[in-house]
Amino acid sequence: MGTGAGKLLELGQTLPHLRWQGADTEAAMLAEARKRPSLRQTPLHHLTPHAPLPFPDAQFDAVTFCSVLFLLPDPTPLLAEAWRILRPNGRLIALTPTGSKGTPGIMRTIGWHAPNWSFFLWRQMTAGSGRRWAQQETLATFARQHGALYEKKTVFHGLAAVEWVQVG
Ligand SMILES: C[S@@+](CC[C@H](N)C(=O)[O-])C[C@H]1O[C@@H](n2cnc3c(N)ncnc32)[C@H](O)[C@@H]1O
Repeated sequence: MGTGAGKLLELGQTLPHLRWQGADTEAAMLAEARKRPSLRQTPLHHLTPHAPLPFPDAQFDAVTFCSVLFLLPDPTPLLAEAWRILRPNGRLIALTPTGSKGTPGIMRTIGWHAPNWSFFLWRQMTAGSGRRWAQQETLATFARQHGALYEKKTVFHGLAAVEWVQVG
């Protein structure tokens, strides 16, 4: 969900036992994803913002949000829709920047190499909303409200967190 230019989907192609679909509200992002040769067979869905997702109930084993939920003013309607389309034991999985390190810390972690500068900028732009997301504990609350399992783990040397909520 929020597949953007399709990088995660492309990585997903290296796991041949998984069948992926992508969805995004931005046609331009999906157009970028469609340029990737590895995604020629992957269904990519153009979503209407605030509309129900165009999928039947209980269709997916997992719905992933890579740097998506923490950017939304109100992620709850999208979460509810993602929950609806999960099968029993299915999972919502979210990756979110934590914004937890200052500039020296992050540069020590990722190194002063030219290819890392876009990551550095991305981190600077998202640090505030990443920290807000962590404080709000939106997914933990969502899990409690649904009687679901919840786990959180920091990754990338503390620069991001993965959270998952599992349907009982
Ligand atoms: C920061 S980008 C992340 C893209 C990609 N997941 C990645 O990690 O490279 C956030 C994406 O979420 C999409 N998005 C925003 N609101 C959305 C919504 N309600 N439903 C689905 N996608 C949404 C945006 O269009 C954008 O492509």
